[in-house]
This record gives sequence, C-alpha cells and structure tokens, in this order.
Amino acid sequence: MEIQLWREILSPYEQAVTELVEKFQHLSLEHRERGLYSPIEQVTGRVKSITSILEKMKRKNIPFEEMEEQVEDIAGIRIICQFEEDIDTVAAIIRRVSDLIAGRSDMEIKCIKDYIAHQKESGYRSYHLVIYYHVETLNGPKKIQAEIQIRTMAMNFWATIEHSLQYKYKTNIPPYVKERLANAAQAIIALDGEMSSVRNEIMNAQNSSLMQRNLVMDILQNIENLYQKSNRREVEKIQDEFYRIYASNDLQQLKRFHQQLDIIAEGYCAQAVTSEGWDQNL
Ligand code: GTP
Ligand code: MG
Repeated sequence: MEIQLWREILSPYEQAVTELVEKFQHLSLEHRERGLYSPIEQVTGRVKSITSILEKMKRKNIPFEEMEEQVEDIAGIRIICQFEEDIDTVAAIIRRVSDLIAGRSDMEIKCIKDYIAHQKESGYRSYHLVIYYHVETLNGPKKIQAEIQIRTMAMNFWATIEHSLQYKYKTNIPPYVKERLANAAQAIIALDGEMSSVRNEIMNAQNSSLMQRNLVMDILQNIENLYQKSNRREVEKIQDEFYRIYASNDLQQLKRFHQQLDIIAEGYCAQAVTSEGWDQNL
C-alpha cells in the first residue's frame, strides 16, 4: 500500500472548513449589520482526527482507496440556530446557493439526512447535508466532501451530552441512562416547540435591539464626522440632544433624530464640496 501522507490528504479539508465557517459567519454578520434577525446563531467546524477516521473505516469496513468518498464527514461544519424554523431557512439558503448558480457555485448537495423529520433511535435530532465543495489547492482544484449539521441550541445540548456518554460507555450505554436520554430528547422537542411559539416576540425584540444598536453606531459616527467639519458648540448641542433621546429609550424618536442628523450631515458635505472642491473625506 502506498504511504499515506496524512498532512497532504487533510490539508484541503482544513481549507474547506476554514472557508465554509467563514462563509456562514459572514452570512450571519450580514443579517445583523442590516438590523435583521439572523437564522444562524453560531458556526463551528472541525477536521476529523486521524484516529477517528481510522476508527470509522474499521467500523464500516472502508478500504483506503474509498476513504475520501465514503467518509463523508472528514470536513464537518455545525450551524447552531435559535429556533427550529431557522433550520429550514439555513437549509434553504444552502440549497439556493448550490442550485441557482449550478456550474458556477463552489458547492453542490450530495445528500440530505433529515434526522428531525426522522429522529434517530437514540433520540438524536439534527438536519444534515453532505455537500461537495471545491477548493483551490497548490496542485489545482479539488472537489471534496463536507458534512453540514444544522440544529437548534437545545438539540445541540442533547447531542453534546449524549455524545459524551457514548464516549464514556463505548456504545454500551446502560438501559437506565438510555431511558433518561430518551426522556430528555422528548423534553427537547417540547422545549423547541415552546420556544417556537414565542419566536415572533423574541425575533421582534432582537430586531429592535439590533436596529437600535445600528442607529446608535451610525449617529455617533455622524457626530464624529460633523465634529471635524463644523462648529464645536453646535456639535456639542447635537450630542447633548442625542444623549437625552438615548436616555428616553424611545426608538421612534431615535429614528427621527438619525434622519435629521443625516440631513444636517448632508448639508455640511454639500457645503464642503462647494467651498473647498472635493473634500478628501467624502
Ligand atoms: P458516524 O459514523 O457516526 O459519523 O455516522 P454516519 O457516517 O453513519 O452518519 P450519520 O448520519 O449516522 O451521523 C453523522 C454524524 O451525526 C455523526 O458523526 C454525529 O456527529 C452525528 N450523530 C449521528 N447519530 C448521533 C447520535 O445518536 N448521537 C449523537 N450525539 N450524534 C449523532
Ligand atoms: Mg461523524
């Protein structure tokens, strides 16, 4: 058998994990920057350890030549959502990205395993997609597989605990622990259901706090810009007014103030353009 150069074999998987984690984190950030609720709460990724790969190949009788095709989770991405509904949103985004720009997309879906609609016997629930992902390597482009697991925080809680127990008992979890886990899995379903029923309330609260944060950042930036261009006393007055409105916790008033400030800032920009030619800061 040829010598296995593990570092070389795993390097594109490391690249894929880094790129995919960044893509999903960016998607989440884009939502938040626009003051929108993000269906993605957290993204993590890992490359399977060599011992886990070997253990899986032994368990499933996978020959070395078929390792890269049959071990689908060498690259693993986990996306954690707040609500069960968010899982569908994230899955739809992945399907859209891989379908719409087919041919030009750097990912395509190999298969979907919906362990939410079809809960595993253990009680495990999650939505899995195995994708083909294209990475550019020193030896040219390479198409590898990655497993994307999408689950709620509650599902993740259960899976993490159960995984530790599997580790401890090496697949022989005692019946009384199994029963407790099955009960806990039921409780997780109930918990996700309860949370979904207040989803709209929570989303509205998160949206308005995000919007307020973005407004405040924008206003402070505008005040700072004005400070460089206009009369100090005037800007101090504007700043005092801002802190007064901020203290009142009135989002509508804050929005109006933001609009007025935008108009003032535009006025100063126009002045700067006509009096000094193009201002370098514009
Ligand atoms: P593995 O050999 O465990 O990777 O399974 P597989 O390749 O046959 O695929 P499957 O879809 O069954 O599982 C893929 C991954 O889902 C696993 O590697 C785990 O991360 C997770 N998973 C599947 N079943 C369970 C379970 O019962 N408990 C926990 N905690 N995780 C699970
Ligand atoms: Mg796995």
